[in-house]
Amino acid sequence: MKMSKPVILTGLRANNDLHIGNYLGALLPMVDMAKERAGEYRINLFVPDLHSFTTEIDHSQLQAAIMQNLRVFTAAGLPLDHEDVFVYRQSYIPAHSELTWILDCFTGMGEMQRMTQFKDRTIQLGADRISVGLFNYPVLMAADILLYGSKYVPVGEDQTQHLEFARDIAGRLNKRFGELFVVPEPVKKQHEFFGKDQGLRVRDLQNPVKKMSKSEASGKGVIFLTDSPEDARKKVMAAETDSLGEIRHDYAERPGVSNLLDILKLLGGNPDEFIGQKQYGPLKEAVAGKATEFLQDFQSKLAAVDENSIEQKLEASEKQMNEVASERLLKVQKAVGLRP
Ligand code: TRP
Repeated sequence: MKMSKPVILTGLRANNDLHIGNYLGALLPMVDMAKERAGEYRINLFVPDLHSFTTEIDHSQLQAAIMQNLRVFTAAGLPLDHEDVFVYRQSYIPAHSELTWILDCFTGMGEMQRMTQFKDRTIQLGADRISVGLFNYPVLMAADILLYGSKYVPVGEDQTQHLEFARDIAGRLNKRFGELFVVPEPVKKQHEFFGKDQGLRVRDLQNPVKKMSKSEASGKGVIFLTDSPEDARKKVMAAETDSLGEIRHDYAERPGVSNLLDILKLLGGNPDEFIGQKQYGPLKEAVAGKATEFLQDFQSKLAAVDENSIEQKLEASEKQMNEVASERLLKVQKAVGLRP
């Protein structure tokens, strides 16, 4: 495969139900890129299945969860038939694991121990319930990125440190062994490239200082793609706001209202008409209306997805990506003395 086009890559985990934060913040911008820019760029959208059990999961559900993710990509409009769009499962490309080991040996313990996500989890769960897999998760993520020469990787706030690490380790090995890797663009450039309106930070409706997250236990502030439209409406109407009594976009003082304004915009509504209003009810109604419409439409698309076309795409992409990844891996193996 010729590799001359710049690569845009991202992975979407298949652990739990995806929610509108993932959809609007991560998936949709990638699908839009694929629709508008594939041809000029190569688009790699993959399921990081090896990342799925860095924390405890129900393994009997993993296959179904992976397929569900792929169906969601398709329902979101990912053009499976485009020759510059690649859809694959990480574990079907062994080079990810192999490069991870090599990168591990050039990664400092301290470097990994300083990762915020790792530190937070350790505090939440206690060191005995944290796996080594969670500890070196960013190294696997770096391998995911570097194997394909990725330049653009859309990342949410919680992943910026991991992207920085991918840049660091790429630079470190290049310096020591010659040009092995494309160094992905720095976070600021990533944001410029993807545009800041891509909504990388939809917040939890109940706790709007936090990102909307599938690991949030109650799920009351999270709109899942599988929620019934009625449940979604209830969640929006019950969203946490403030008592300041004026709608303004201001995350410091009014995180709940600001989040609702952003969600409205991402769902295709017009937030501007609510700015300055004293009542929060109509804004919530508008968001609830858009969310309901969105879910009805999306769920009917999801039900209509043809799994055969997904299977075919996976087979083709995994074959091609195995070639691309193995070629890069071989370069690294040679550089570190594992191959003549
Ligand atoms: N770590 C990402 C997340 O939890 C998923 C991921 C894995 C990823 N490998 C990646 C994202 C490579 C971008 C690039 O959301």
